Amino acid sequence: MNEFIPPAKPLIGDEERAAVDRVLRSGMLAQGPEVKAFEEEFAEHFGLGRACVAVNSGTSGQHLGLLSSGVTAGDEVIVPSFTFAATCNSVALTGATPVFADIDADDFCISPASIESRITEKTKGIMPVHLYGHPAKMDQIMAIAQKNGLQVYEDAAQAHGASLNGTPVGAFGTFAMFSLYPTKNMTSGEGGMVSVEDAEVERLMRLYRNQGMEKQYHNEVVGFNTRMTDIHAAIGRVQLTKVDGWTTARQDNAAFLSENLEGVTTPPVADGAVHVYHQYTIRVPEDRDGLAAALKEQFNVGSGMFYPVPNHQLKPFAGTTADSDLPETMKAAAECLSLPVHPSLTQADLERIVEGVNTLAKAGA
Ligand SMILES: Cc1ncc(COP(=O)(O)O)c(C=O)c1O
Repeated sequence: MNEFIPPAKPLIGDEERAAVDRVLRSGMLAQGPEVKAFEEEFAEHFGLGRACVAVNSGTSGQHLGLLSSGVTAGDEVIVPSFTFAATCNSVALTGATPVFADIDADDFCISPASIESRITEKTKGIMPVHLYGHPAKMDQIMAIAQKNGLQVYEDAAQAHGASLNGTPVGAFGTFAMFSLYPTKNMTSGEGGMVSVEDAEVERLMRLYRNQGMEKQYHNEVVGFNTRMTDIHAAIGRVQLTKVDGWTTARQDNAAFLSENLEGVTTPPVADGAVHVYHQYTIRVPEDRDGLAAALKEQFNVGSGMFYPVPNHQLKPFAGTTADSDLPETMKAAAECLSLPVHPSLTQADLERIVEGVNTLAKAGA
């Protein structure tokens, strides 16, 4: 049988290995000059026009961003239920309550109309997720936030380089988090990068990252150790020089899939949006799980379901929101299937993915 096509594949080359070796030889392993350089280069590379703070994971970046923005017990933050658990966990960890909004059918991202229906006097902010690498409807979301005096926290974990009407994701909200987990569009091994609008929020983030200290033994707040190491930053700095090429490859792969797939709904791209295809997600209205299993068995093609169990159904949040209040979330959770789109795919891989999906979709029809 043909070789397995994995749903994701981290790309680590000689340059990353050499960068790690350079740091190891320097003897300076913990947070230091590599982290500082990575923060500056990341902000510059993606044209964010604001400061960036590096941390040890995307999740801690969101948690610290929320704490630094003043989110606390008694507050509500509106989040999509159709996302990875870290989005909602980071809110809950501050003591605030995640309030689940529905998504829109077209982009799988949080629905502005649903956001408006969830606003109460306790709402402090909105956390849109640029899901799969497609920007959320930031123009409408920023207008709702402004009208209601709310903050916006972007979950850009999957969206390095995505933009809307020329504005990069990560340049809209009070802060934005980019994950650097190995399967993301670029990685540092583990890690997170947070872009921050306001200098005081940035200062607090740096304090929380380092036990509450800017100056040693002059602790100002109760903090964590969520520092990024120089080893991880060195990997991330190299990946920054490669990510644009990988994004183009993802977009070319997505274009081929969208041109050739039949019998399934391919992912649309909104006017003015740049989609960076962290995932290429189709909708399979009938028997998605069966199609995924047959793709693997008959064509040796891997795929992913992000996310078959929406957050409002997870144990920590169960009972907070009725399924019937989140109809598009429930539909997407049953239908979504992410096909390989990563930059390592060959033309033969792409053709096998298309052949597999088209054959199986036709057989099921
Ligand atoms: C949408 C979303 N939010 C948050 C995270 C958390 O990022 P990390 O895994 O780097 O903590 C991820 C990635 O795993 C994600 O996909």
